[in-house]
Amino acid sequence: MSLKVCIAGATGWAGSELTRGIAAAEDLVLVAAVARKHAGQKLGEVLGEPRLAAPIFASAAEALAQPCDVFVEYTKPDNAKANILAALEHGVHVVVGTSGLTDEDYAQIDALARERQRGVLACGNFALTAVLLIKFAEMAAKLIPQWEIIDYASAGKPDAPSGTVRELAGRLGKVRQPTLEVPLEQTIGMRETRGGTLAGSQVHALRLPGFVIGVETIFGMPDQTLSLRHNAGSSAKPYVGGALLAIRKVSGLIGLHRGLDAVLDI
Ligand SMILES: NC(=O)c1ccc[n+]([C@@H]2O[C@H](COP(=O)([O-])OP(=O)(O)OC[C@H]3O[C@@H](n4cnc5c(N)ncnc54)[C@H](OP(=O)(O)O)[C@@H]3O)[C@@H](O)[C@H]2O)c1
Repeated sequence: MSLKVCIAGATGWAGSELTRGIAAAEDLVLVAAVARKHAGQKLGEVLGEPRLAAPIFASAAEALAQPCDVFVEYTKPDNAKANILAALEHGVHVVVGTSGLTDEDYAQIDALARERQRGVLACGNFALTAVLLIKFAEMAAKLIPQWEIIDYASAGKPDAPSGTVRELAGRLGKVRQPTLEVPLEQTIGMRETRGGTLAGSQVHALRLPGFVIGVETIFGMPDQTLSLRHNAGSSAKPYVGGALLAIRKVSGLIGLHRGLDAVLDI
């Protein structure tokens, strides 16, 4: 039997690529979509994909009137939490791709998910190489006490650091706090050039033409370094496979889980 999916943000850059992935999957069926500008139309008409007959609704509340098993949140941070809570109230499992929710938001989401015995899988970056970078960096941090992070993005990206870097730094901070031989306040010259501190890690954000999105963690030990780097190009294709896996696996979870590795056998 096919899993019924509703996607909020189905006409967006990330959401539209995911809907094409769902259209090609035999075990998934898209039953409803959420987006304001094209509300009232069929998703297939908007995306030029005849296999997508799902109607588009202006709000998650309207879309959730169509019975579904999994709700995917891929809109914007300002209404993501309300959409996720509405889906849980309807007894639907949730996959979250939207970045920018706070730890407080997630605590509230976790409480409702546990109360309703439903799963929420939130992943700031569904690209397999980014997921692996975070996992490998956690392994390295157990053995190597010093590292710094570089956050690469296009010149026009207004926010810094990226959602991926936030997730990476948060996960590394739970392994241990990296050591600094020269405390930041003892920097001779410009303290700002040592970057910003996020969950204990020093983060250096580059915003330049020529980059799309990337992250690098550099670990250092005497006479040796280890660089772990993920780069993504300009299409949203890298995020489809991981999001499809999350959709297929989320019903096996209860409560909030962060990071795709919660459902990967690694
Ligand atoms: N986890 C990952 O791997 C991953 C990958 C890529 C992006 N992201 C994140 O996913 C989110 C979406 O990114 P994007 O680049 O796809 O954005 P986008 O191209 O601007 O698309 C946003 C989508 O959400 C809809 N939308 C926005 N506000 C809405 C509202 N209030 N009510 C209903 N629908 C609304 C938009 O349609 P209307 O404007 O017509 O309403 C559109 O369909 C961002 O937070 C981004 O950082 C995550």
